[in-house]
Amino acid sequence: MELIRERSAWRSLLEKRRKRGDSIGLVPTMGALHAGHLSLATAAVERCDFVAMTIFVNPLQFGDEKDLAAYPRDLGVDLQTAGDSGVHAVFAPSVGEIYPFGKPSTMVRPGPLADRLEGIARPSHFEGVATVVTKLFALSGASAAFFGEKDFQQLAIVSRLVDDLDLPIEVVGCPIVREADGLALSSRNRRLSRAERQAATALFRSLETGRLALAHGSDLDTAEKMMMAELTSEPLVTPSYAVAVEPATLERPEGAGRPLRLLVAATIGPVRLIDNVAAEQRGSDPVALDPVAS
Ligand code: PAF
Repeated sequence: MELIRERSAWRSLLEKRRKRGDSIGLVPTMGALHAGHLSLATAAVERCDFVAMTIFVNPLQFGDEKDLAAYPRDLGVDLQTAGDSGVHAVFAPSVGEIYPFGKPSTMVRPGPLADRLEGIARPSHFEGVATVVTKLFALSGASAAFFGEKDFQQLAIVSRLVDDLDLPIEVVGCPIVREADGLALSSRNRRLSRAERQAATALFRSLETGRLALAHGSDLDTAEKMMMAELTSEPLVTPSYAVAVEPATLERPEGAGRPLRLLVAATIGPVRLIDNVAAEQRGSDPVALDPVAS
């Protein structure tokens, strides 16, 4: 597996592969790799001839300097892990290599999808994500890019960005990987104490509570209240939101029976955690919904 540090070398390596006829699968990461990242690499290996992973802790998407400084970094371990999971080349540039003129004067603004949920707690976060992702797409010329559904709002924003700007790349969303007790894998989990790690299971419990309530015909308000109650029942958890939204727009859906996404966010000790599941609301009165039913 090759390790590349410079943009010019990355471009020329991938250009060479494309000229040979290889399809390039891009797996953008910030390192601190875990099984969730490896599932992205596995999906890329299945679909593409050449798997290119980026490892770059992007300062533009951190509002808080302390959070940026505390972000776990261990390139040696990450390279070993990436190689073992079938990645062919890793691009791990310095901040100066990606942003040679400091903060770029051209930034990618994702619009209303970025203004809600995580965008409220982290106002410039998605602008930073959209900007670096656009640069990584441009530098890689990949035909597909693989993102985890755990960052569901990010996935929605990147998918919309690609549509809006006609970028020649397919965005592939990959399922969340969970611990046995339901906790979604995240690089931030390793900053939790033992007690906080235990408390963090409240996020998945909250989502399951909401999913089951909707499946049994609860309305959205009731399901959201039940989700929030599950979060607040855990003293170490400070909830941020617990909502049911329409997956593509992240807005409140109208009418029952449509696919939904339940999303939760909370702060536990030093970290903010997010999680989500797919759900469906069963119509509470199928006869009333279908006037021709007898
Ligand atoms: O999901 C992440 O790890 C990051 O937000 C990404 C997509 C690599 C951009 O820095």
